Amino acid sequence: MAKNLQIRSGGDDVTLDVTDGTIRAADLKQIATDQGPLATYDPGLLNTASCRSAITYIDGDAGILEYRGYPIEQLAENSTYLEVAYLLLNGELPDAAQLAKWESDVNHHRLVHENAKDIISKSRYDSHPMAKLMSAVASLHAFYPGSRDIADPAEREVNMIRLLAKMPTLAAFAYRHSLGRNYVYPSDELGFIENFLSMLFKRQERHYQADERLVRAVDVLFILHADHEQNCSTNAVRAVASAGNDPYTSAVAGIAALFGPLHGGANEAVLKMLNEIGSVDNVPEFIAGVKDGKARLMGFGHRVYKNYDPRARIIKKSAEEVFQVTGVNPRLAIAQELERIALDDEYFVSRKLYPNVDFYSGLIYEALNFPPEMFTVMFAVPRTAGWVSQWQEGVLDPEQKITRPKQIYIGERGRSYSPITER
Ligand code: CMC
Repeated sequence: MAKNLQIRSGGDDVTLDVTDGTIRAADLKQIATDQGPLATYDPGLLNTASCRSAITYIDGDAGILEYRGYPIEQLAENSTYLEVAYLLLNGELPDAAQLAKWESDVNHHRLVHENAKDIISKSRYDSHPMAKLMSAVASLHAFYPGSRDIADPAEREVNMIRLLAKMPTLAAFAYRHSLGRNYVYPSDELGFIENFLSMLFKRQERHYQADERLVRAVDVLFILHADHEQNCSTNAVRAVASAGNDPYTSAVAGIAALFGPLHGGANEAVLKMLNEIGSVDNVPEFIAGVKDGKARLMGFGHRVYKNYDPRARIIKKSAEEVFQVTGVNPRLAIAQELERIALDDEYFVSRKLYPNVDFYSGLIYEALNFPPEMFTVMFAVPRTAGWVSQWQEGVLDPEQKITRPKQIYIGERGRSYSPITER
């Protein structure tokens, strides 16, 4: 294993320390080039560690995902989203008293200021719920200006809790606004997930009672989506936080990044693909088209996982449980046939293409009657646990500096301004 890296530069040997499998990019500056000190060029940060983190561990080759060292399979089997949020934020599982206090603290903060609610009401009814969510979360800083004092531990804590607590409320308001339905306020009598489902789906009944199996399925989906180390949205949160921003302002960057179809939008694309395939009989022809480069098998492949995404395996089981309540989504058979053929096909096997988290989640959301635009919102709500944990870790990390990458300048130089009449 390399302990250091020797680089011969213009006849001189330069030795760079290798720590944690990385070199310090700033150490390269001691090597001169024609264009100044040596730097790295890494569009998309494919091979650059931007922080040290103790929150989430992924081994993509082995298909391992752990939060604070706990395997995702054990958390999905035994834990709840709120307990996982506590774990991500604090590094340890809570004892019974800590969990009770945590749940009570989060549930206490679920209401939103009426004027924040009005920001959603004033949007066009057919605007994307992610756009409404982004605007409403951006407004939260205006209601809690104390959040700017990120050096104060009490301010940090209360504002992270507020954000975690209010995301489901704002998400549900954004959904109901698009349907023209009244808003349902949080209820003291309901736990975190039950309350979210009530805020989404309650109609005229006095008490909304979600099926326990659906509550558990959504809880598991939330656990699986809670964090995923330095993905695009988390990196955006950390970059905005590095300028000294509060959790609300930083989370807006995360929501914005997640909105992108390459990030949070793939589950919607899976559903579209299944609709286009139409029936199980058409699967072989579709697979042949994928191998000819005519289409991608959406919900397959991952930048990090070169093995079965451990979240996909758990979601597949959750989907079966949800369908026991909602009836089977007719597209499930198409998805299963795609998976069966792909996992046995040399094209997919040799490229290590396996189902990812998005392959089955869209089917669940559709079975719950969500329109496709809501799928990304259902990703943003639980990812808030990861965003606030990563926000806090960045704020407290003495090594973190304001994010400010270099560029390779490829434009013109030293031109003279000419008056408009002479151009
Ligand atoms: N269907 C068919 N071929 C594929 C697919 C796919 N879904 N994914 C990758 N390939 C092929 C690709 O054509 C290439 O083949 P070749 O070597 O012959 O050119 C090879 O596999 C490597 O692909 P790549 O594009 O270099 O891989 P990447 O790591 O840059 O891309 C990915 C990762 C997720 C963008 C890609 O696998 C993909 O587009 N998948 C479908 C979209 C999708 O499901 N996205 C959700 C990702 S999980 C959500 C999250 O965690 O944020």
